[in-house]
Amino acid sequence: MCGIVGYVGDKPALDVVMAGLSRLEYRGYDSAGIAVRTAAGELTVVRRAGKLANLREALDGTPSETLDGTMGIGHTRWATHGAPTDRNAHPHVDCTGAIAVVHNGTLENFTELRDGLEHRGHALASETDTEAVAHLIEERYAGDLAAAVREVCGDLDGSFVLVVTHRDEPDVVVGARRNLPLVLGLGDGENFLASDVTAFIAHTRSARVVEQDQVVTLRRDGVTVTDLAGSPVDGATFYVDWDTAAAEKAGYEYFMLKEIDEQPAAVRETVGGRLGPDGRLTLDELAMSDEDIQGLTQVVVVGCGSTYHSGLVAKYAIERWARLPVQVEIASEFRYRDPVLDRHTLVVAISQSGETADTLEAVRHARRLRAWVLAVSNTVGSSIARESDAAFYTRGGPEVAVASTKAVMTQLAAVYLVGLHLAHVRGFRDDDEVRSHFGDLAATPAQIADVLGRMDPVRKLAREIASHERVMFLGRHVGYPMALEGALKLKELAYVSAEGLPAGEIKHGPIALIEKGTPVVVIAPRHALTAKIVTNVQEIRARGARTIVIATDGDDSLAPHADHLIRIPDIKSLLSPMLTLVPMQVLSAEFAMARGLDIDQPRNLAKSVTVE
Ligand code: M6R
Repeated sequence: MCGIVGYVGDKPALDVVMAGLSRLEYRGYDSAGIAVRTAAGELTVVRRAGKLANLREALDGTPSETLDGTMGIGHTRWATHGAPTDRNAHPHVDCTGAIAVVHNGTLENFTELRDGLEHRGHALASETDTEAVAHLIEERYAGDLAAAVREVCGDLDGSFVLVVTHRDEPDVVVGARRNLPLVLGLGDGENFLASDVTAFIAHTRSARVVEQDQVVTLRRDGVTVTDLAGSPVDGATFYVDWDTAAAEKAGYEYFMLKEIDEQPAAVRETVGGRLGPDGRLTLDELAMSDEDIQGLTQVVVVGCGSTYHSGLVAKYAIERWARLPVQVEIASEFRYRDPVLDRHTLVVAISQSGETADTLEAVRHARRLRAWVLAVSNTVGSSIARESDAAFYTRGGPEVAVASTKAVMTQLAAVYLVGLHLAHVRGFRDDDEVRSHFGDLAATPAQIADVLGRMDPVRKLAREIASHERVMFLGRHVGYPMALEGALKLKELAYVSAEGLPAGEIKHGPIALIEKGTPVVVIAPRHALTAKIVTNVQEIRARGARTIVIATDGDDSLAPHADHLIRIPDIKSLLSPMLTLVPMQVLSAEFAMARGLDIDQPRNLAKSVTVE
């Protein structure tokens, strides 16, 4: 949460930082702010509560000569300490106004730090933990900003990314990190610091991850990275191959709509090149020997929100194909129940951002217990990927909308690949079976595109039901995790009460919620359980539900009981989530838009949840 940009170069810092912030706004949009060191040697700070548009408006009204520098920092905030007001917006400054600080994270000892500062005579103007850092740097500053930042890092408990400037140090931006992401962008005569690479890929593709407890000094002509003791440290650069256009709306009204449409291409990337001519899946990323895979006794999957739902699908696939017991855990609960793990356990940690604090802590806990941890992530070099034993990248491209769509889709493809690989190596599926299942998976991009082409009636239906305050989603088998996902999408986008339930469970209580006209989405692709779902649909319809049924082409068993029928192409039932997911994404997006809501930036949320 919170997006940070720092820039030193020869371009107008205002433009570079604002463009970077607009790429990072998905990380938080409670307030935004910028500090620029002007050509005249002043530090100008402008900040506003609310979305970046409010800051833009304020900047439009600010004299241009006070914003004309080539060095600047910026921040977009997801509020933790203090309300989302102008006063609490970053950057925060010290008593002299010479030092400006932006911060992502939370400082656990902030009360103690603030009390100490006030006792020593500092006047703190905000309710934030961040402001304390500006004043602490003020106390330690003796002409070397990086040295002061290093010292102050030693005083901080908790997690932080800090990016700092000092009025008297032209062309220097200092960054530091603990537990949260910070990436360096290495340009030609210009350098960048940012929460993620999307902020600078329009300028440079060369990047380097700032590691734990490192401090970076960014200058126009180079960067220096040290540990907290000030000793220089090396690090590898990597090339970012994301397309800049992928981080733009490309004519779509919302990123989410674009990302829904990108799903066929995204899955092609995930699945592409995975099957060798010998019928073996190329899954070297797992980095486990065949012997270790054969010695596994269990798999534990951890994730949060939508990725937890992908994990639930993984359970069905891995248990069916690889005959290994699978537990799926919400990451924030995982380590607190003292899980039984050992070196024969494979932990699969799923995270689009690779920065979710709950999942990161689950990874650390699993590794302490000697389990083998595989990260499934969309973000190269993310904390979860780096801290795991191995990383499988989903290659979905940047996902900007807060509501996850193509990332979930590619996670599904990834966990199917992992399941098939485990099954093959463990001898539960032979070459022909693996080839056949892989062929089914490789066919899904065309099928997803087919479903996308059928969505007009779903949009119309969404607009018709958009006044309802309760919607239910039912599914069985792999349809159940998708019911949870459908409900989560509608909750986060449209702010309605949406429940995802196993269809067989509804008669044990939730059926009491059904009133005349309650929309109920039933995920019912062709499956051995379809006959049972037919019964469930009849039960709810008899109580007045408006039934919206997702069914397979050619399966007419549900048609008589459906008020609205959404068809998907025929697909093996285990892979059906990759198709049933699409109508629910479209339905929730259109439902929310019909209510006049911003589907890219739903209220109270941030895309990357880096607090526990
Ligand atoms: O980056 P991650 O995949 O770890 O994020 C996990 C959840 O925060 C995320 O899936 C969240 O539930 C989405 N907003 C759902 O659309």
